[in-house]
Amino acid sequence: MARPPQSAPKKKSPKSAPKAAPRATPRATKSDQAGASSPRWRPRTNMVHAGVQRSQFGETSEAMFLTSGYVYDAPEQAEARFKGEDHGFIYSRFGNPTVAMFEQRLAALEGAEAAWGTATGMAAVHAALFCQLKSGDRVVAPRALFGSTRYLLDEILPRFGVKVTLVEGRDLNHWRKALKQRAACVFLETPSNPGLEIVDLAGVCELTHAAGAQVIVDNVFATPVLQRPMEFGADVVVYSATKHLDGQGRVLGGAILGPKEFCDNKVMPFIRHTGPSMSPFNAWVLLKGLETLELRVQASSQAAAALADFLADHPAVTRVLYPGRADHPQHALAMQQMSSGGTLISFDIAGGKKGAFDALRRLKIVRISNNLGDSKSLITHPATTTHQRLSADERAHLGITDGMVRLSVGLEDVDDLKWDLDQALWAAKPRRAAALQGSGRGR
Ligand SMILES: Cc1ncc(COP(=O)(O)O)c(C=O)c1O
Repeated sequence: MARPPQSAPKKKSPKSAPKAAPRATPRATKSDQAGASSPRWRPRTNMVHAGVQRSQFGETSEAMFLTSGYVYDAPEQAEARFKGEDHGFIYSRFGNPTVAMFEQRLAALEGAEAAWGTATGMAAVHAALFCQLKSGDRVVAPRALFGSTRYLLDEILPRFGVKVTLVEGRDLNHWRKALKQRAACVFLETPSNPGLEIVDLAGVCELTHAAGAQVIVDNVFATPVLQRPMEFGADVVVYSATKHLDGQGRVLGGAILGPKEFCDNKVMPFIRHTGPSMSPFNAWVLLKGLETLELRVQASSQAAAALADFLADHPAVTRVLYPGRADHPQHALAMQQMSSGGTLISFDIAGGKKGAFDALRRLKIVRISNNLGDSKSLITHPATTTHQRLSADERAHLGITDGMVRLSVGLEDVDDLKWDLDQALWAAKPRRAAALQGSGRGR
């Protein structure tokens, strides 16, 4: 159970209220046990069944408990709940049955002891860090991170007296050097957004633990389908559930997964008293998203591998970064940690910003959006959107060129995606386009 104090109501304690009339309060039934995750089952089965808590109505699909609060049979029961002696729900900022189902399903997928849902991915990143840190502590992180995570590390944490050391995430020697001094935790992303840099999970976890610190991994790009950081030693994993976990671009959400002790004693009070809680409606949508997660991620990843090869051969493309390709500088490491190259490709379009913008404007199927992990293929220009806050030098250092775009591959027919990219890319190389279209290659 991800959240024991908030689990399905137990029998009343003898101290609680006098006998009340039976209510239609959802209670766990015998068949719920069959819905709990099981180590016997493979991930795909857990994705569909883990975490189910059926009400007395025996619904097939998980119930959506759109309620902010809960009623008590008597004041004694309310008192017992607040004291933690009666294990029922109190208020949906602290816990909600639909959110609990999402948490349990995701924990089963990740192989984590516990999970907490949050309102957004950044709420998860922020809460995971704040639950590890106090004034005077030091965080070590790679420079290559999602733009808002960099803002949190560069601008917000230092205001609270937290020191941040940024390292070259690809180089284990940089981590070794940074972890010689005392640190409270490491925060990393692999593959990184948008440069698809790979951090050696096992190597960094070993160095971090030897330094007495904890590792938090943002696993958004790989998803639990392609990479399970805890198997390499990570202590805490965070997600933007907004991305592949939903996978259909509908809701915002996030999650923190880790040891039960950390979730119960650090994350639970933090969320409870600061309020970045997941909405039960969003949790319900995300539960449905998890049911198809593996099918979607595998299909998009297969299409991404084909598109990466196609782009690498395209005359308007000057560089392709895809961890599944042998020419990715860390291909071997990526394949040790991930079961495939993933659903994201970054590539450089000839002609810099103008070339990239000209191509993006012409796309017919792939849509321009800073979001990712959707059934619709989405493309973004990181230098002017997600990473525009970084200085030009820092962007150059991270390989975020003016011609770089990040493509999140969806579920469309891969041949249609090739056609769309091809016709748009010729905008960056018009003369070649005319020649090739004349020769029958263009469409
Ligand atoms: C790697 C990564 N982490 C965290 C986030 C933040 O997620 P959210 O937008 O749900 O707050 C994003 C969003 O794009 C991301 O790409």
